[in-house]
Amino acid sequence: MCGIIGFTGYTEAKKVLIDGLTALEYRGYDSAGIAFYEGGSINTIKTTGKVAALTDKIAALNTSAEDTGSTCGIGHTRWATHGGVTDTNAHPHTAGKVTLIHNGIIENYRELEIRLKEEGRIPISQTDTEIAALLLDSLYEGDALKAIKQAVELIEGAYAFCILFADQPEVIYSLRNSSPLVACHAKEGSIIASDMVALIDYSKDYFVVPEMHVVILKKDKIILTDLDGNLVCPRILHVNWDMTAAKKGGYPHFMLKEIHEQPDSLRNTILPRIQNKLPDFTADAIPDSLFDGITRIVITACGTAMHAGLIGRVMLEKLLRLPVTVEVASEFRYQDPIIDKNTLVITISQSGETADTLAALKLSRERGASTLSIVNVKGSSIARESDYVLYTHAGPEIAVASTKAYTAQLACLYLLAFRFAYATGKLEKEACMEEMQQLLNVIPALEETLSQDKIIEEISRQLKEKEDLFFIGRGLDYALSCEGSIKLKEISYIHSEAYAAGELKHGTLSLVTEGVPVVALATQQKVYAKMISNIREVKARDAFVILITISGQKAEPSIYDYHIVLPEIKDEYAPFLAAVILQLLAYYTSLHRGLNVDQPRNLAKSVTVE
Ligand code: F6R
Repeated sequence: MCGIIGFTGYTEAKKVLIDGLTALEYRGYDSAGIAFYEGGSINTIKTTGKVAALTDKIAALNTSAEDTGSTCGIGHTRWATHGGVTDTNAHPHTAGKVTLIHNGIIENYRELEIRLKEEGRIPISQTDTEIAALLLDSLYEGDALKAIKQAVELIEGAYAFCILFADQPEVIYSLRNSSPLVACHAKEGSIIASDMVALIDYSKDYFVVPEMHVVILKKDKIILTDLDGNLVCPRILHVNWDMTAAKKGGYPHFMLKEIHEQPDSLRNTILPRIQNKLPDFTADAIPDSLFDGITRIVITACGTAMHAGLIGRVMLEKLLRLPVTVEVASEFRYQDPIIDKNTLVITISQSGETADTLAALKLSRERGASTLSIVNVKGSSIARESDYVLYTHAGPEIAVASTKAYTAQLACLYLLAFRFAYATGKLEKEACMEEMQQLLNVIPALEETLSQDKIIEEISRQLKEKEDLFFIGRGLDYALSCEGSIKLKEISYIHSEAYAAGELKHGTLSLVTEGVPVVALATQQKVYAKMISNIREVKARDAFVILITISGQKAEPSIYDYHIVLPEIKDEYAPFLAAVILQLLAYYTSLHRGLNVDQPRNLAKSVTVE
């Protein structure tokens, strides 16, 4: 949450900062600001609202974003945690010689504030970030590294900072603990940001800033040191996507583009992992010995990634006959989880930076579990903390609502389940090969599913005035209902709930009255008849039923208002296709309600606070 960027170099800083903030805006969009060296001093411009509001403010101040006067500055796009959305609370914050931006939460800021107030240092905002600025200024006597080291010893929490010192023109200091930071040097200069999307215009080679290290950005070079000032050589990584992947490419919204990218993202995720028709993780350096002695699997993640885990659980349990539990990462640590060296903990995260998931992973390692993460962002904190990583090759996901990352996560979980089952002798080679073919069949079937766009748009028009909605299903369809429900509510603001279809009559059926929409997922043959009975129960209460089945399954028109038929596919693979329908349903409903599809209120991508 919050996007930060710093640039020092040979070209106009304000343009680099504004372009970078525009790319990072998905991380937070309550307010935005920049600070830059100009005419011997540091100027700050900040405002509530989006980056566009900041650009307007810059223009109104007659300071062009392309003004060549400044070649060094920092920029921030905020997702408010401490203090309301006001101009004063927007970053950057200045205290004496220090101007800084921050992504994260300073947990002990109250304690620090009391101490600073005793010294007569009074904050003017309600933010934890200003306390960090005041603290750093109180410690700064001309030696930035020394002051940073002392500040770090006092600050508790998660942070990524970019700092300007008034008496060190054209230099940016940066450091991080938990919150993400990546940096690169290019012909235009040195640049650092929360995410690669802000760097990709300048370079495809970058490094992830190691935690508790200081980055000193100068025009001609980047210096990385530990907190004692010892030089450290950064580990350079390379991205294999370019800026077109991080732009809308003709689509009206990132979300729609990302929904339509799913055939490609599945291809990129699955194909390199099928060798000789079998699942193969040689290139991922995941040995079969990982599965030796595993008696239990725990999947932990947040939100949509956790919902992918719910589907993964069904597949893993079915194939391995081992107990698999799915834990919400934000609860995991507080439940004193039962894990030991025979437990495989799988963490799932698009960003690889979700604070709760990262904390759950760290605890699992402390308790001796083997850890494997399914992550989209290369070199992210979760990837680096895990024993093994299976990357989803979905490319950058910009819309706040996760879509292509979810189906890519499913693909990884399926590959993992099949490899595990095959490697431990629980699945015959021929059967495993057959399943890999089925997994590959998902890709053309998904392409066909995407062509149902029009009917989904029509259904969504009927939903736009509704206030409550239910998703029901059994087995894999129930797990998928959870995902359908979060997708709809996060971007359309319609209240919805996911229910195991058989559970409705134990209480919630009282809420199903005339016209209440019920999205009924009935893709699983084994429970189809039971599911139809549940649909009759809601239809008998005059619900507005949107039925989703696989081609070939019969359904009487009297039980539904709309019927969406998915291409023929084995039950186990239906979630990939049905997920696309639910994503489109959420997308069009949000669109018809006139909402900001890509940046829903109160949310942000990459939740780096607990
Ligand atoms: C919903 C959504 C969130 C994320 C969750 C975890 O559409 O995107 O629920 O899935 O915040 O994020 P990652 O996957 O980055 O750990």
